[in-house]
Amino acid sequence: MGRVEGKVAFITGAARGQGRSHALRLAEEGADIVAVDICEAVPGTPYPGATEDDLAETVRQVEALDRRIVAEKADVRSLSDLKSVVDKGVAELGRLDVIVGNAGIDIPAIWRDITPEIFQDTIDINLTGVWNTIMSAVGHLVSGGGGSIILTSSAAGIKPVPFHVPYNAAKFGVTALAKSFAMELAKDKVRVNSVHPGGVDTDMATGAMELFDGFSKENPDLMGMFTQWFPGSMPPREISNAVLYLASDESTWVTGHTLAVDGGMTSY
Ligand SMILES: NC(=O)c1ccc[n+]([C@@H]2O[C@H](COP(=O)([O-])OP(=O)(O)OC[C@H]3O[C@@H](n4cnc5c(N)ncnc54)[C@H](O)[C@@H]3O)[C@@H](O)[C@H]2O)c1
Repeated sequence: MGRVEGKVAFITGAARGQGRSHALRLAEEGADIVAVDICEAVPGTPYPGATEDDLAETVRQVEALDRRIVAEKADVRSLSDLKSVVDKGVAELGRLDVIVGNAGIDIPAIWRDITPEIFQDTIDINLTGVWNTIMSAVGHLVSGGGGSIILTSSAAGIKPVPFHVPYNAAKFGVTALAKSFAMELAKDKVRVNSVHPGGVDTDMATGAMELFDGFSKENPDLMGMFTQWFPGSMPPREISNAVLYLASDESTWVTGHTLAVDGGMTSY
């Protein structure tokens, strides 16, 4: 019996990186998946965008685990598009138990180089997109008698990371979203928690790290603020294990919690 056997999980940003890893980890433990991804580059991101082939590869890998998956290209900035994918997924898979708001972008920049477009896109995707994700799907959890919502914030949603003004604002906002929804949805047996990854080995982190070398010349005093205590880079599966715990019935009394998985980064 898997740890989330029989549950259905809706995951945003599932074409690659942490989102794909979450889909596979939950599928390994018996869940079926509803997956969305924008499948294109967002202007300004310093790394290549995910593709429709990436999302198809997530589908292939979930199905190889003998689980079912409904996957569609969709942008978390569109509440109506998310809602139609979720409703289609529930019609095909029968229920919804878990929502994982994972999709996000990162456009690191020194404060004076942040344009109105960078600020707006980051807030629209990383904060409003998470609100859209919840609102598109939470009705199915309430009508089904309960469930678990897991929001991907960041270490930057606990402690601001330098050269990330809009990203920090959005990720602190996600932390607040989790606690706010957790309060009101507890009576409906819907738990809401945020996960706070440190540096995870994905395309996003690789693109951001390359820029940090330039930033260190701008303001070297800030560069020691984010030190991970464990050596090496963190694989996405470490975050997926936290998502799995929060999705499962092992965490029935855990809600409104900020779960840092960051090698100690935010502990000082
Ligand atoms: N990688 C890290 O070091 C790190 C650290 C802390 C938090 N995070 C957060 O983890 C989450 C996952 O990031 P990742 O590391 O897997 O990076 P990633 O770039 O590999 O994956 C992000 C996914 O989200 C998708 N996406 C982006 N904008 C979207 C939109 N508007 N609509 C739908 N999908 C969209 C992308 O296409 C991509 O597949 C993000 O919220 C990110 O901010 C990452």
